[in-house]
Amino acid sequence: HWQGVKLRPRRRPWRHAGNRVVAQAGSYKVTILGAAGGIGQPLSLLIKMSPLVSALHLYDIANVNGVTADLGHCNTPAKVAGFTGKDELAGCLAGADVVVIPAGLPRKPGMTRDDLFSINAGIVRELVEAVADHAPGALVHVISNPVNSTVPIAAEVLKQKGVYDPRKLFGVTTLDVVRANTFVAEKKGLPLADVDVPVIGGHSAATILPLLSKARPKTSFTDEEVEELTSRIQNAGTEVVEAKAGGGSATLSMAYAAARFVEASLRGLDGDGEVYECSYVQCQAVPELPFFACRVKLGRDGVEEVAAAELRGLTDYEARALEALKPPLKASIDKGVAYAQQQP
Ligand code: NAD
Ligand code: LMR
Repeated sequence: HWQGVKLRPRRRPWRHAGNRVVAQAGSYKVTILGAAGGIGQPLSLLIKMSPLVSALHLYDIANVNGVTADLGHCNTPAKVAGFTGKDELAGCLAGADVVVIPAGLPRKPGMTRDDLFSINAGIVRELVEAVADHAPGALVHVISNPVNSTVPIAAEVLKQKGVYDPRKLFGVTTLDVVRANTFVAEKKGLPLADVDVPVIGGHSAATILPLLSKARPKTSFTDEEVEELTSRIQNAGTEVVEAKAGGGSATLSMAYAAARFVEASLRGLDGDGEVYECSYVQCQAVPELPFFACRVKLGRDGVEEVAAAELRGLTDYEARALEALKPPLKASIDKGVAYAQQQP
């Protein structure tokens, strides 16, 4: 199984539709905006393999027809359709249960995620406007960086359109958890499938805060190990950007992580009672930060519960790191809100 997500979910073989009972063999529709990109392509493949998905809609401004034709030959049930150009956005989005947004520029060595703001803010705004118009009830998963700002932008756009439901908007931070689990398992010699590390805060540099004291299975770390692991998890994106040397940022591990989050969200929609993932959402976990990544319970309407209790009983190191991440994260949130509130 994928960590935290069973590939073969417990599900009923039927569902109610009005007063009919109908067979259910993967009944969810997923739309990917930016589907022909470095993340979009492997993510589309992984979602095409999901038993929960009946329709997979792919949108990009370039190269989407080839990706659609290629993927459509896989003999898994999800029906794939490709869409390109603004005129086709409405058809791509209609009826979507989950919309995933990996559209946008990736980093090159020497750039921060915030350096992508000037291009990606506009892309996210434009795409979320279309989501508001054509799929207002969908869960929206924002991958495009800088996530700390693009999610507040998405929230403002949805508010302006009068369709904002904070339970349904997510910044995808699953890759931080995937990395934390991998690095902790390697360092401590633990079986990978057993390790689960919550990662809170945001998704850039020091705003990424793994809570090693809350790792499962309960594990003890020396001060040096905490420093080393925290820093590696915080800088893992840059590690990949530098290794790709101008060829972009994480795509394969990101696609894996995003597919895990889509699968978890669909299981939540499907009524599986016990689905928990970390995500960057609007919440009250830290009162001065309107958006914050923490563990949430996913249900039929998106976020059902925010596990704010996980922020109690932090180590001194974690408590200091949490204080330190507040100003930069708040600044990124404010930057996104201010951008979206400007006149278009
Ligand atoms: P990429 O350049 O390979 O792909 C981006 C795709 O978006 C391209 O196919 C491009 O044509 C498409 N696109 C651009 N503008 C568009 C628009 N207006 N509408 C639809 N599609 C559009 O980049 P990538 O490596 O796939 O990364 C995408 C984004 O994801 C980047 O911003 C990157 O920083 C971010 N990212 C986030 C995480 C995370 O953990 N949240 C991890 C990795 C990358
Ligand atoms: C990541 O964490 O890999 C992404 O946010 C991409 C990046 O720019 O580091």
